[in-house]
This record gives sequence, structure tokens and C-alpha cells, in this order.
Amino acid sequence: MAKLELRNLNKTYSPKVVPVKDISLTVNDGEFLTLLGPSGCGKSTTLRAIAGLEQVTRGQIILGGEDITYKRPGDRNMAMVFQSYALYPHMTVYENLACGLKLKKVPRLEIKQRVAQVAEILGLGELLQRKPGQLSGGQRQRVAVGRALVRQAQVYLLDEPLSNLDALLREKVRAEIKQIFATQKSPVVYVTHDQTEAMTLSTKVAVLNNGYVQQIAPPASIYHEPGNLFVAGFVGSPQMNLLTINCKQNHAILGNFSIPLPKLPTIPSQIVLGIRPEHVRVAQTGEVHPTVKGRVCLVENLGMHNLVSVSVQGSQSNNSPVLRALLPADQNWSWEEITLALPHQNIHWFDVSSGDALSRKTSNCSD
Ligand SMILES: Nc1ncnc2c1ncn2[C@@H]1O[C@H](COP(=O)(O)OP(=O)(O)OP(=O)(O)O)[C@@H](O)[C@H]1O
Ligand SMILES: [Mg+2]
Repeated sequence: MAKLELRNLNKTYSPKVVPVKDISLTVNDGEFLTLLGPSGCGKSTTLRAIAGLEQVTRGQIILGGEDITYKRPGDRNMAMVFQSYALYPHMTVYENLACGLKLKKVPRLEIKQRVAQVAEILGLGELLQRKPGQLSGGQRQRVAVGRALVRQAQVYLLDEPLSNLDALLREKVRAEIKQIFATQKSPVVYVTHDQTEAMTLSTKVAVLNNGYVQQIAPPASIYHEPGNLFVAGFVGSPQMNLLTINCKQNHAILGNFSIPLPKLPTIPSQIVLGIRPEHVRVAQTGEVHPTVKGRVCLVENLGMHNLVSVSVQGSQSNNSPVLRALLPADQNWSWEEITLALPHQNIHWFDVSSGDALSRKTSNCSD
């Protein structure tokens, strides 16, 4: 058990390829930190640097108070599941799971027990005598996860460990991973571009883009209080509505409608309004929240809900803004005129040039 810290970590491959830029973060004992971000943003490079498989260009990696930046990978007592995992092809599943423990001279009986336990958790019990060549991609991936789980490591590093599993199995193994790590105390760093995995598994999420940390916070804060436009747009499905709109006095003008702005030191000429589709609803009579009228231009059936795209009325530009709302599926919304309510408490505001989130307190809701 030990706290893992990255201090101003940088990795440069060439002047043009700098996948890790000044990353600082802490993963405490028992914390499950997810590095979440789009492809190529530097997640695997960061993880590999923690494992000692990439030499860092600048910065420090501290584990339990000790600077391990230049320690050999084998001396770090970290268990890692690689994105491109490789199993030993000539060994059975059992041997693949057991080999790390054998090298550490763990008693034979204990190896047997630990392998059996992990095989049970990951549904590999029937496959223990098979060789990797006789397994499906998803089964192989579970063996790779199992190899890390049987170890009693100081830190666990997992790089997209569920990417080859089908949707159902992914859900199942995800829940199992959550249970396994909930009961042990070592820090876990998990890499994914799948926000559902990040939201469900983590105690803390670090959203990365282009090598930079955008925000580090518990999953609920990342979702409800995104720190900037990137986080707001990346986390959440369907994606948050993000509309760049003009301001007039202390109101944002959306079509024929005006929405009170939050308290700001100066009123900008434009601002970005963000609201999640699940927070947009059909306006009620005597609606107290800001409303916007429009015409339904697209209905996408998502099963439990319809994702309804509404072209906002009264916009001067040819491309009138489109608001997407997640509405009950039991109504037919096709081509209707519709008035939507945008609840104050669910509106996010962002600075147009920096993309940073602005205060959410409205200056005066009754203006
Ligand atoms: N050995 C290397 N030499 C040069 N550039 C590299 C090397 N490894 C990775 N890169 C580059 O560094 C950047 C970050 O790569 P990384 O593998 O960390 O991304 P990632 O966030 O894990 O993406 P993905 O979700 O696709 O796995 C990419 O632009 C990649 O091309
Ligand atoms: Mg990767």
C-alpha cells in the first residue's frame, strides 16, 4: 500500500511528439484513478512511464514517498495489463496466470488458490488447460487481466483491459473489477477512452487531452461540473449541447429567447451555453425556467428515450442552432413545434476563447 504521485511528468519523443505534458496527480491508497481521453492523448504513455517502460523526459514519479522515476520496471512491484497484451503462447492459461507468482517463489498451494480465485472471478475456470491459441480474443484479454490480479502488487496499472470484450461481458467484467479493487488498498491507475468505464469504476477521473490534464475530480463532479469545454463535450452521452450565442446586456440570446447570464465581471459579446440533453425538457404551462421554441428536425429512438433534435426558432443566421433533448419514447415528436425548458440549475456557461467554465450563478433569474 502506497501513495502514487506524478509530479510535472513530461515525455517527449520528438519536438513534435510530446504525449505527456506536465502531468501532476496523486493516487492514494484505495483510490481508483482513471485516465480518460481520446485516442492519442497520452494515456498509455503516462501509464507506461509509471511502470518504468518509458523513460520520462522531465518530472518525478513518487511511490510511498520514494522517488522511483529511474527505478527499473522489475523493481517497482507494479502489476500491469497492457493495451496490446501478450500471453505466453506455449503455456496453458493456468501457467500464464501462475508464472508471475512462480517467479516470486510464492508457495505452490497459495499459487493454486490465487489462480483458482481469479479464474473463478473472470470466468476462466473451464479454460485453465487451454493454450492462448485456443482462446477467443475476449478470453485472452481476461487471462491478461487475471495475470495482473493474481499478483499482490503495490500499484495496479490497467490499459484498456476491457476493449476486446463484447458489450455484455464488458459490463460483467467491469462490475467484477470494481468489486475486486474495492476490497484491496493499492492505488489503481486505469486507462480508457470509454466514459462509462471511467464513470462506473473510478473514485477519481483525470481527463486528458493532447497530453494535458484537463480536470481531475470524482466522476460525479466531472459530469456535473465540467471545468472546461473539452471535458463538457467529451464526457456524457448523448453529448452536452454546446451553443455559442450572442449576449446582450446580461442575457444570452438564443433565437427569439433570452436567457439570464451568470454573474460575470464583464459581459462578453458571446458565450457558450451548455446543457445536457437529459436536462432539457418540454416546457410546462407557466414555466419558471428559460424556454426556447423550435421545430423538431430529427428523432432518434434510443429505446427508453428519444433523442429529439430541435431547430431553434427565430435565429437570424441560416444555420439555426439545434438543441438536443432526451425525451420520453412513448410520444411521437415528429415535426412538431415544441417549447423546451432549460432549467437554470442545469445550464453551464463557458468562456468562448479560453473554454473555461464560468460561474453558474445567474445574475437575476427574473430579469
Ligand atoms: N514510441 C513512440 N515513438 C513516437 N511516438 C509515440 C510512441 N509511442 C506513442 N507515440 C505517440 O504518442 C502519442 C500518445 O500515444 P499514446 O499511446 O499514449 O496514446 P493513447 O492516449 O494511449 O491513445 P489510444 O487511446 O489510441 O491507445 C501518439 O501521438 C502516439 O503516436
Ligand atoms: Mg493507449
